[in-house]
Amino acid sequence: MIKRDWKSHFIAKNMEIQISILCLFLCILCLTTPQLMFISAESDTYIIHMDLSVMPKAFSTHQNWYLATLATISGRDAVFSRKLLYSYTNSINGFSAVLSLSELEAIKNSKGYVSYTKDSILKVDTTHSYQFLGLDSNQGAWPVSNYGQDVIIGLVDTGVWPESRSFSDDGMSDVPSRWRGECEGGELFDSSLCNKKLIGARYFNKGLLAKYPNSTFSTNSARDTEGHGTHTSSTAAGSRVKGASYFGYAPGTATGVAPNSRVAIYKALWEIGIYVSDILAAIDQAIADGVDVLSLSFGIDGKALYEDPVAIAAFAAMEKGIFVSTSAGNNGPEHATLHNGTPWVLTVAAAAIDRELRGTVTLGSGVSASGSSLYPGKDSSRFIGIVLMSGCDDEESLKKLVHKIVVCVDYSDLLGEQIYNVRYSKLAGGIFITNSTLVDLYVKIQFPALFVSLEEGQKILDYIKNDSNPEARFTFGETHLGTKPAPKLAGYSSRGPSQSCPFVLKPDVMAPGDMIFASWSLNSSVADLNSHQLFSAFNIVSGTSMACPHAAGVAALLKGAHPEWSPAAIRSAMMTTAYISDNTGNPIKDMGSKNQPATPLAMGTGHIDPNNALDPGLIYDATATDYINLLCALNFNSSQIKTITRSSSYNCSFRSLDLNYPSFIAYFNDNNTKSKVQKVQEFHRTVTNIGDENSVYIANLTPLDGLNVSVSPSRLEFTRKFEKKSYKLSIEGPKLMKESLVFGSLTWIQSGGHREVRSPIVATSLSS
Ligand SMILES: *[C@@H]1O[C@H](CO)[C@@H](O)[C@H](O)[C@H]1NC(C)=O
Ligand SMILES: *[C@@H]1O[C@H](CO)[C@@H](O)[C@H](O)[C@H]1NC(C)=O
Ligand SMILES: *[C@@H]1O[C@H](CO)[C@@H](O)[C@H](O)[C@H]1NC(C)=O
Ligand SMILES: *[C@@H]1O[C@H](CO)[C@@H](O)[C@H](O)[C@H]1NC(C)=O
Ligand SMILES: *[C@@H]1O[C@H](CO)[C@@H](O)[C@H](O)[C@H]1NC(C)=O
Ligand SMILES: *[C@@H]1O[C@H](CO)[C@@H](O)[C@H](O)[C@H]1NC(C)=O
Ligand SMILES: *[C@@H]1O[C@H](CO)[C@@H](O)[C@H](O)[C@H]1NC(C)=O
Ligand SMILES: *[C@@H]1O[C@H](CO)[C@@H](O)[C@H](O)[C@H]1NC(C)=O
Repeated sequence: MIKRDWKSHFIAKNMEIQISILCLFLCILCLTTPQLMFISAESDTYIIHMDLSVMPKAFSTHQNWYLATLATISGRDAVFSRKLLYSYTNSINGFSAVLSLSELEAIKNSKGYVSYTKDSILKVDTTHSYQFLGLDSNQGAWPVSNYGQDVIIGLVDTGVWPESRSFSDDGMSDVPSRWRGECEGGELFDSSLCNKKLIGARYFNKGLLAKYPNSTFSTNSARDTEGHGTHTSSTAAGSRVKGASYFGYAPGTATGVAPNSRVAIYKALWEIGIYVSDILAAIDQAIADGVDVLSLSFGIDGKALYEDPVAIAAFAAMEKGIFVSTSAGNNGPEHATLHNGTPWVLTVAAAAIDRELRGTVTLGSGVSASGSSLYPGKDSSRFIGIVLMSGCDDEESLKKLVHKIVVCVDYSDLLGEQIYNVRYSKLAGGIFITNSTLVDLYVKIQFPALFVSLEEGQKILDYIKNDSNPEARFTFGETHLGTKPAPKLAGYSSRGPSQSCPFVLKPDVMAPGDMIFASWSLNSSVADLNSHQLFSAFNIVSGTSMACPHAAGVAALLKGAHPEWSPAAIRSAMMTTAYISDNTGNPIKDMGSKNQPATPLAMGTGHIDPNNALDPGLIYDATATDYINLLCALNFNSSQIKTITRSSSYNCSFRSLDLNYPSFIAYFNDNNTKSKVQKVQEFHRTVTNIGDENSVYIANLTPLDGLNVSVSPSRLEFTRKFEKKSYKLSIEGPKLMKESLVFGSLTWIQSGGHREVRSPIVATSLSS
């Protein structure tokens, strides 16, 4: 069983985002001992949502009201101010405080109380990806938006390495005067480290310190000691850096998606824990500071919308016109694994791009074989003996092979264990002959190794059989571009349906997330070769954490080009212009399902295309009221709705699950009736013409097997810009579908024009 832990450790090492999760669990294990807990058994940190409309006029600020509320319930006045961790203004109405159970009960009876949640823990889930996105200096989203100039992207993450060349402000214009953020100094972080690129840096750890008051793990400032935040922020908006590479891999000019946008970093993801109270404070501040786009590469699993801090804070951001990009999570390929399936955010899946990082093994016969590898160490200096060990499962035999290269054949998806066995047997290297779809998870390897296909592997096996003294040598650091097929959906990318709101199809889009090259913290090691730690200004890591800032960067470009677009309009433009064919002209494949075509529950509408998204023709807009009508239809009660909306001034006269969204999901999963009764599901949508004044769009339906789908009207004629037209989509099918999932699409094609507005349609018998 120890092996399996190490297998998952291997995965974790390759998917940086999971390092923190692993570390987090380890640390919690070692820290959750009674004597270390500052918060006694009965007390804990709580987030209290309050109704500001009933605040007595006597209080000048809501913080005073919260303090007074705490003072009333807390016996000794001397301590109440220490109990208050944060008073929130923008992300929620309310505060977080360390409370005993009896104090919590007293708060529940106080005037203005709406709801509470216990503080809990969240999960954290580029040289070439900008080219893969089609970003080009001569045309499209870069020049039209002036590279996202003056758009401010806020990231809640592990902090930033401000000295990174990705945050150089050479040639940048002055910081927009509307900016209200600041550069907060702290340990190893001088407030002078910000500039015209990195315009804000703050940190939030009161929630963490309430749990671990004597923590010495984290740098007490916005400095990134882990790398994740430096990577995501440079991906979204890093400046151009010439001559970048990762130990020879992926060489070239590194640049963020929106290289003229500004970065503000809000550090709330700490190595030993990520707390809701800190996250809310970070988003609260980002909203107050005036960010335009928020990039949130983390999420919380299994929570209702009114308990999900990311959903709640994102609602407030959306109302302020802030676009929120989030990561779908790394728990694929099973269905219903995604987090952030929130109707008012963008939920991003991870794609592999057309770049492979490879190495070569040259055999004694002169024949060579090529394989995937991302090994940051040196090439072999000479030929080394090579031995076939097939399963590589006998650790004792492996240990006898020092100074040899071992060849392992992965017959039954035991790759992770084989890698572990080889690594810890101190061999000179490993060649893994495998057709596993998970190679991308392992390819960032800490010892000389190659992952070769069954065909390439045969050359090696033939050679070993034929030679009495077989030997081989490795060369690494090859970067192949334009590889096919690409893009592909990453196997680990989490899938829909959304558990928190099944009636909105999630994820929304896919964006580059696999093996992404971007800046890194200089003192957070990128690899550990034989207990020798390597450091690098750049790193290549994978996850939906990396896809999220790509989408945030694209949103910044769209916001730069169209400052008047609402968050829903930006999302709609990204979704309806996404593409679904790979660079071989076939449907985009899903590495998590044996390279079958990726479904909309895995990749959303498709791969984002920033240039196309500049001019979507029609958009599906949505306002806060539309989302509230959805919350009403989800049968949330008034305290649950108020927790999200922060206001009592809503009513549920127009309940509707039918949100004006650019995609469709219909459930045919009624298990209770065996009758042959058909069921019709109807969807109503309203599109706004933001293209040419006089334009006509004709509906083009890709059918769904076994279902009757119709659209009415099937022709939309516009005579003005901003004109709205409505239509109805009907899907007729059995009450319980035989298949678990079928999908098709509705595309509005401009008559005599170039625009195509595509929405996927999913019909499923999965549970809602
Ligand atoms: C934290 O450190 C202080 C000072 O060293 C000590 O008095 C206190 O007991 C420690 N708290 C915990 C929870 O370990
Ligand atoms: C890998 O090859 C084996 C043996 O040919 C086959 O059974 C298996 O399905 C293949 N796996 C994948 C993911 O293609
Ligand atoms: C095996 O060795 C023979 C004699 O050296 C050579 O002619 C032949 O090409 C070799 N075959 C392979 C597969 O290497
Ligand atoms: C990271 O860098 C800072 C100085 O920039 C140093 O004080 C700190 O100890 C370093 N941390 C590690 C883990 O190397
Ligand atoms: C809403 O539901 C929650 C959970 O069941 C309950 O605690 C709360 O009192 C309810 N609020 C109202 C106003 O009914
Ligand atoms: C509910 O809100 C709608 C629009 O905001 C308004 O037109 C309507 O009068 C409201 N109904 C009630 C009962 O307050
Ligand atoms: C319907 O019931 C069958 C048998 O109990 C079960 O296997 C299946 O998962 C159910 N389907 C749905 C959609 O609930
Ligand atoms: C589709 O429509 C035809 C003709 O009205 C009907 O006979 C058939 O049952 C429908 N199929 C489904 C799956 O509803």
